Amino acid sequence: MKTKIDLLQDKVKQAQTGGGAARIESQHKKGKLTARERIHFLMDENTFEEIGMMVTHRSTDFGMEREKYLGDGVVTGYGNINGRLVYVFSQDFTVFGGSLSETHAEKICKIMDMAMKNGAPVIGLNDSGGARIQEGVVSLGGYADIFYRNVQASGVIPQLSAIMGPCAGGAVYSPAITDFILMVENTSYMFVTGPNVVKTVTHEEVTSEELGGASTHATKSGVTHFACANELDAINHVKRLLSYMPQNCEETPAALAYTAAEESRPALNTLMPVNNNQPYDIRSVVSEVMDADSFLEVHREYAENIVVGFARLAGRSIGIVANQPAYLAGVLDNHASTKAARFVRFCDCFNIPLLVFEDVPGFLPGTDQEWNGIINNGAKLLYAFSEATVPRITVITRKAYGGAYDVMNSKHIGADMNYAWPTAEIAVMGAKGAAEIIFKKEISTAENPEEKWLEKEKLYSDTFANPYRAAERGFVDEVIEPSQTRIKLIKAFKMLENKVVNRPRRKHGNIPL
Ligand code: HXC
Repeated sequence: MKTKIDLLQDKVKQAQTGGGAARIESQHKKGKLTARERIHFLMDENTFEEIGMMVTHRSTDFGMEREKYLGDGVVTGYGNINGRLVYVFSQDFTVFGGSLSETHAEKICKIMDMAMKNGAPVIGLNDSGGARIQEGVVSLGGYADIFYRNVQASGVIPQLSAIMGPCAGGAVYSPAITDFILMVENTSYMFVTGPNVVKTVTHEEVTSEELGGASTHATKSGVTHFACANELDAINHVKRLLSYMPQNCEETPAALAYTAAEESRPALNTLMPVNNNQPYDIRSVVSEVMDADSFLEVHREYAENIVVGFARLAGRSIGIVANQPAYLAGVLDNHASTKAARFVRFCDCFNIPLLVFEDVPGFLPGTDQEWNGIINNGAKLLYAFSEATVPRITVITRKAYGGAYDVMNSKHIGADMNYAWPTAEIAVMGAKGAAEIIFKKEISTAENPEEKWLEKEKLYSDTFANPYRAAERGFVDEVIEPSQTRIKLIKAFKMLENKVVNRPRRKHGNIPL
């Protein structure tokens, strides 16, 4: 018996050393943790249970039968994060560069299947040279098996992808299907074709970092939701992000304990600039209204004209979508529309109520926007709000102009409660432009056209640049003092707690992708 236990212990030790001490050292020299170290920092102490530690590859080409490592380049299993069950896979770059073999893929698929059956999130820690080149098509098949499961799990269990090293070729499509991507600055990159292929095909000279590093994807493409300073920062972001989500689509997110405090926020009464074209940071409204330090912004550096993220209100998890007057006046454009639409759909998948702060002058005009599909992209946001069945509340702080008024969670597309501050202006367009169009003749024939224009601008502004026309119609449920916003929202979300919406039966809708 003793020798058999010794053999087991030897094998466990062997598996735990991955590709060996030299490769571990090389990993550390690059400023990267190993697959097991990452799991150690991610999971609650002593909760990780490994599955498939003894798995090896089956390849016999190129002498591969002589080079086998227990675990085959990926550590998989389950355990707890802040007391909640999660399934994890962590690719081990020290074994064949973390490349994906047939059995490596099978291990990932196994824990994904378990996560689906047991209704718990899957977290992928990616660090891989892509398809195991020695295995050819079976490796490609393995990727497709994972992609298929990512899609089946979408909207059923949360899926998070932390990119801790290379992620290239078709391999990028698994993270892309998951709900959130986190990348580590300087040590991770994602691209479909690397710098060498780019140079051959387009003659562009570009480094891996420029082409697909964390800051590129955080600012230019929007592929990553978070660019993290280092691996520990990424791991901490994963934990925090998870805290706003339920285990699966049948549950609601856990609320934090909350005892009623003074809910009035007098600072909000003086926050709005006197001039209605002057910018202010919508984040200051969010942080004043929501629980202290509870806001986790998603996609912070991408399409900054719209702010999205998770926060808590009286301890409950809420998804925030807010126009940002401090960036491009908060206008809706292609990137802002798709960014917000994806976030709205995530919240709706996982029963996270939505709160919209609206201050939007409209959609951005121009050939760039039109030729890049603002019609389809704006429609995505309209579609995402319209199909969402979670509790939905809008607070109009200032401008709600044109089509953007409809799109930004208006009552007409299913919002449950809409509040407006006294500073709200709800109209087809700004008063200056409106006066120019509808009083064109009067202005052009006037003795003093400038004066006439100002007079007509004032007339339009007095008529529409306020929340009362909308309130008369019931499009706004209540005009509120800004200082009362938090109180009103706490009560309204509580009132909507048991909201049920039944949709007509269908296979699935056809969002304008
Ligand atoms: C097998 C691989 C490998 C791979 C790396 N290795 N990638 N083994 N298959 N795809 C091995 C190396 O041989 C080496 O083994 C070890 O991993 C570390 O690799 P290095 O090159 O020494 O590391 P580094 O300099 O950090 O470079 C990392 C790298 C580079 C940039 C990832 O290895 C690389 O370019 N690899 C190939 C990437 C690639 O083209 N993959 C296929 C993409 S196509 P030793 O024994 O020396 O430690 C694809 C299609 C997926 O993935 C399609 C899905 C639909």
